[in-house]
Amino acid sequence: MRSIVGFGSIAVLVVACGDSAGSGGSGGSGGSEGGAGGASTSGVSFHKDVEPILQASCLGCHYEGRIGGFSLETYEQAAPLASMIAAVTASGQMPPWHAKTTDECQPRYEYRDNPSLSAETIATLQAWADAEAPRGNPADAPPAFKPAELGLPNADLDIEAPVATTVEGDSDQFVCLIHDPKLDQKRYLDGMNIVPGNEKVAHHALMFRLTRADALELSGGGDSFPCFGAPPGDLVQAWAPGAQPLQLPQNVGLAMDADDVIVVQMHYHPTGVGPEQDRSTIQMRFMDSTPAYTFEMALVGNATNAPELLAGPNDAGGPEFKVPAGATNHTEAMEFTVPDLPIRIPILVVGTHMHYVGVGARFSIERKAPGDEPKDECFVETPRWDFNWQRGYMYDAAIKDLPTLGSGDTLRMDCNYDNSMSNPLLAKALASEGMSAPQEVRLGEETLDEMCLGVLGILVPNVGN
Ligand code: HEC
Repeated sequence: MRSIVGFGSIAVLVVACGDSAGSGGSGGSGGSEGGAGGASTSGVSFHKDVEPILQASCLGCHYEGRIGGFSLETYEQAAPLASMIAAVTASGQMPPWHAKTTDECQPRYEYRDNPSLSAETIATLQAWADAEAPRGNPADAPPAFKPAELGLPNADLDIEAPVATTVEGDSDQFVCLIHDPKLDQKRYLDGMNIVPGNEKVAHHALMFRLTRADALELSGGGDSFPCFGAPPGDLVQAWAPGAQPLQLPQNVGLAMDADDVIVVQMHYHPTGVGPEQDRSTIQMRFMDSTPAYTFEMALVGNATNAPELLAGPNDAGGPEFKVPAGATNHTEAMEFTVPDLPIRIPILVVGTHMHYVGVGARFSIERKAPGDEPKDECFVETPRWDFNWQRGYMYDAAIKDLPTLGSGDTLRMDCNYDNSMSNPLLAKALASEGMSAPQEVRLGEETLDEMCLGVLGILVPNVGN
């Protein structure tokens, strides 16, 4: 595989994030305050202390028919799980959010829509479990939970998937579906979203911008085609359950040419019980004029050769990307020099991407001429990488304050792999390919190949437009 450093339109990949302003509502991944509001941890009860937390941070997914698989809405549903709730919140497993602050990675800004719970909230849940889940007084209960609308506010266009997909059996399915907005001229979007048709099976989705002709060539003229590897287009958004619609800041837009379509790569998890149908919808919101900045995604990584690929463990001759069968805690590192750019480019979104052998990734920069910015900066670390929950992270900062990259800066990826049966996601992926032992892993597009990619959502000024 070639290494990718894409600036401009080479490998442009945007990812789902939301805007903090628009993420209110009652559900989903709302605020870290969690409603515990300084409650003392003695005398904790379900209705007074715990129910508001579950409503704010959990019911968006743990509600009848939603992706969480079981509901935490009522006392009867939540109380038997009290110690498990305390454990998964203490460990940071729930609510799902994989960008974590670590010793090696302390991002300069908070990310938007971070649903992580405060230490006080986690302590309240623990105290409730320790007290054996008292119900308390129903008169203290917050108003009944209303699930948040899943849509993009003020969407101009809804495009339903061209065909419904039947999801059955016990292996994950990857399907690419062509969504054609049939634009008559180039348009800029400041909002984009996917509304899953069936949350029981729609596990995550990547949206790519391709020309209509390229998409039809891949599908052989049809509406859809099977695809685990990314279609050769620009990634424009990644969605996972709980992610808010992509809403760009003021003066920033995503460009769609008249002959562009969106190819949605759906990742389906069968329920294991019976067939389910999904027909998801994508939504677009158009801007009236050309914005000051075009939002583009650049991918950095997947180097196979020196000097970009740095020497790693188990390399025979020069540096090579190879994760031997059975290797645990195996790291591959890569460094890229940013090519000549006329100006420094603001970075709005950051992320990482790997497959199932990957267990952790860190994406950072060393600036050549830092000016007012830190010389070394970590953009994002996903220390418990999980393919099922991939998404982008949008900085919660004004455009003028965003981290930037410029000529001669060094971008660095550190990717960590566990190619053993103690990696549960790998064990599952091997089983679905009919295999019972790990094999040597190299870079590639297939399920059991690996990747080591950094994702950047950058703001390119529209000069002279
Ligand atoms: C964005 C959706 C989402 C949110 C928000 C969410 N969960 Fe989950 N939760 C899931 C999914 C999906 C699973 C199934 C396991 C998986 O896919 O990671 C799960 C699994 C669990 C489990 C079972 C864990 C296990 O190991 O079997 C518990 C307990 C749980 N969640 C509690 C919570 C609590 C408490 C909150 C709020 C603080 C919460 N979840 C918020 C989606 C969510």
